[in-house]
Amino acid sequence: MGRFDEVYRAAAADPEGFWAAAAAEIDWTKTWDRVLDDSDPPYYRWFPGGELNTCHNAVDRHVENGRGEQAAIIYDSPVTDTIRSITYAELQDQVARLAGALAARGVAKGDRVIVYMPMVPEAAVAMLACARLGAVHSVVFGGFAANELATRIDDAAPKAILSASCGIEVNRVIEYKPLLDAAIDMAAHKPDACLILQRPQATAALTTGRDEDWEEAVAAAQPHACVPVAATDPLYILYTSGTTGQPKGIVRDNGGHAVALKWTMKNLYNIDPGEVYWSASDVGWVVGHSYIVYGPLLHGATTIFYEGKPVGTPDPGAFWRVISQHKAVSLFTAPTAFRAIRQQDPEGDHIGKYDLGHFRALFLAGERCDPDTLAWAEEKLQVPVIDHWWQTETGWAIAANCLGIELLPVKAGSPTRPMPGWDLKVLDSEGHEVPPGTIGALAGKLPMPPGTFPTLWNAKERYTKSYLANFPGYYETGDAGIIDEEGYVHVMARTDDIINVAGHRLSTGAMEEVLAAHPDVAECAVIGVADSLKGQLPVGFVVLKAGAGDGAVTDEVVQMVRDRIGPVAAFKSAAVVKRLPKTRSGKILRATMRKIADGEDFKTPATIDDPVILDEIRESLAGIGFPKAGGGLK
Ligand code: COA
Ligand code: AMP
Repeated sequence: MGRFDEVYRAAAADPEGFWAAAAAEIDWTKTWDRVLDDSDPPYYRWFPGGELNTCHNAVDRHVENGRGEQAAIIYDSPVTDTIRSITYAELQDQVARLAGALAARGVAKGDRVIVYMPMVPEAAVAMLACARLGAVHSVVFGGFAANELATRIDDAAPKAILSASCGIEVNRVIEYKPLLDAAIDMAAHKPDACLILQRPQATAALTTGRDEDWEEAVAAAQPHACVPVAATDPLYILYTSGTTGQPKGIVRDNGGHAVALKWTMKNLYNIDPGEVYWSASDVGWVVGHSYIVYGPLLHGATTIFYEGKPVGTPDPGAFWRVISQHKAVSLFTAPTAFRAIRQQDPEGDHIGKYDLGHFRALFLAGERCDPDTLAWAEEKLQVPVIDHWWQTETGWAIAANCLGIELLPVKAGSPTRPMPGWDLKVLDSEGHEVPPGTIGALAGKLPMPPGTFPTLWNAKERYTKSYLANFPGYYETGDAGIIDEEGYVHVMARTDDIINVAGHRLSTGAMEEVLAAHPDVAECAVIGVADSLKGQLPVGFVVLKAGAGDGAVTDEVVQMVRDRIGPVAAFKSAAVVKRLPKTRSGKILRATMRKIADGEDFKTPATIDDPVILDEIRESLAGIGFPKAGGGLK
């Protein structure tokens, strides 16, 4: 039996023993009563009775153990031409002071704090300061519009908001403060205090009585100690797209999260404490939470905060420059970033300009990794390229190739095998397991391992209904796929209306809600169409109300999605159609529309009420340039 099989079987045979051993790598102020509380299925809790502080484990203990002078964070920002290193000792000081500033403004254990920040190290300081107090942070991605921020403010009801005056995209400065002001105006809940980090690229006007200058507040604050919390207390809420405009507040607890992430740093990513590890994502996403901030810091590694893009800052050699300059031993990013690099540098000429001798592995996740991109990355980098599959809900990989245990043969299109701790099955619609090689719903047998979400914020019923009800005894991932004869997982498609645009998770249902709000729109549909750069792109169809002129409706709905959801939705194509194709029972045939848009062969569904509509859809799509020449991904 190979080493991976041994570890996988050990975790399956004795989950409590396995995770208790992993938990020994974490400092606890009080040991747990039980490793797993399974007394109330389908709800499970890891390490009940245990107490710890996540910030202590990510920062203070490394200073105590002699890593004070080691870089904790390297900030590399081509958009501001800055490179700055922050040691663990400096990080401890900054975090303790910000925690003191928050405490002075009434923030205490259990209170929520929204963090709306660009990719600057202060974003990590903000998250860790909350963790230090036992307060619950909720980071909102900068590319979301004010309306999305307002929804999150109302759901999380934060006592304070930490933000910055601006973020910087390749070609423009994005002022955050007007977005924050608009969101607070829109929201019913009002925070008591906002601390604003002033950046020189755009200074924000502060609202008297509510906003304060971050640096002044921190300079005047007393450092605050770590507050022990229960292992089962929430560390953060991270909102992610559900099937409607109301996002799901994924809850992460303190204990299981620290244990699982620390374990993955060596076993999955093969990183040793003291090494430089780079995840080129954003703190607004789960990858940023787990592998820009918490994972590397819990492990005593050095993490890179990169404020730039794979291309355009300034060229497609940006990633190689960062890896070489900071001696990063591995990189974690989304396949879309590699497609962008390859598009601009097909031969990989920029790679040859840098010394990548120390670079050991590339990890990809966030969307399906198309075999072409995998092969290109393998050939050009000459290191293992590891696709792994996970979700905001799970916090770490469900399936992966554990480089730190045993590198298994890579199969293009597969994120390899279920991770230790995961009992993954493929189920048919009745909830029965299907034979190897057969497509079905990917579902994890409960309990899920530590670090996965125990609930949704203030929405236990939605948690149960969305994830646990369809297949009793299982967590329904929302992904469809197969497990082959060799136990390799292949993730094929979502079973709901979530699409993946440049590695960003978006809901077409939420976009439909925006389109439907246009006064001239009678009916609408949004589908995800294959795109050779971003993986998928949303395309909208609107049916106008009788008497409405079709003048500017398509431009207006494009602008509405940008204003209400945000530029990150990349919603740029919409067509007016006379009717939407439906079944006789009235269900919109989105899958058929998608196939037409992608130029795929399809059978006209037997249940369609009028096949002629499909020709109309084909014509409308042709009018806005679909199917695209060259098509999508193979
Ligand atoms: N704040 C404000 N706006 C933002 C933003 C932020 N933090 N992030 C993105 N946007 C805007 C962009 O400026 C762009 O606006 P535009 O429509 O005016 O051009 C829009 O949102 C879409 O952004 P993006 O998806 O980044 O597309 P892009 O065309 O600018 O870049 C890639 C394409 C492939 C280079 C880029 O998407 C990328 O690097 N993807 C990797 C994603 C990733 O790491 N995902 C995390 C999962 S691991
Ligand atoms: P998010 O919650 O934003 O991380 O998005 C999770 C979704 O992205 C998953 O449910 C999948 O649909 C998709 N996804 C993430 N990683 C992979 C992968 N390696 N292969 C295929 N799909 C993936």
